[in-house]
Amino acid sequence: MTKVAASILSADFANLHKDCTRLLEAGADVMHFDVMDGHFVPNISYGAPVLTCLHAALPDVFYDVHLMISDPARYAQDFAAAGANLINFHIEAVPNHVGQTIAAVRETGCLVGLTISPSTPPQAVFPYLDELDLVLVMGVEPGFGGQKFIPTTVSRVAAIKAECNRRGVSPRIEVDGGINTETASLCAQAGASVLVMGSAFFKAQDRTALAKQVRAL
Ligand code: DX5
Ligand code: ZN
Repeated sequence: MTKVAASILSADFANLHKDCTRLLEAGADVMHFDVMDGHFVPNISYGAPVLTCLHAALPDVFYDVHLMISDPARYAQDFAAAGANLINFHIEAVPNHVGQTIAAVRETGCLVGLTISPSTPPQAVFPYLDELDLVLVMGVEPGFGGQKFIPTTVSRVAAIKAECNRRGVSPRIEVDGGINTETASLCAQAGASVLVMGSAFFKAQDRTALAKQVRAL
């Protein structure tokens, strides 16, 4: 079964609790929490205090935190304390400290996800596959919701899945950006088992039907 991670980047932030409740009622499995620092990516979103409040309002939800920030090790503990279950960080943010950053996130007690942007070869994550709970493959350049899916993402997912199979390891593979029913299907066939949906989920006429369709992939 494929898990639907609902990106709250497209939410009405004045009504975040209500919007999240609706996404969960529609069938979202996970809340995907995008953190942008205006430095690693050219946009600023929200930080740990917002997650603290959301977690207090909805404590039983799985929070998949996607750090698009320059110094993930420095802030990992803040997000863990705020209620993160899994912390993703970008390999491009810490090219010379990937192992140390994995260890720093692991130290917080959260699950660890390593993320690659579209221009990073999938082979970049291969040395770390044994240590990861999840690999997050971006389907768009990180920074903004509502962008068009980059088609080469599918072969990137397939390359990571093939290497996992070859090595006998099984981190989950998640895809983020540009996911709709069509691209979700392609990614699931290539080996992804968690799909982030932001704008497609918020815009859907029938969110329950959309979540059901993606979860069945
Ligand atoms: C982009 C974010 C995504 C974004 C996805 O940098 O990481 O999580 O919210 O939005 P959609 O589904 O609209 O591409
Ligand atoms: Zn994201």
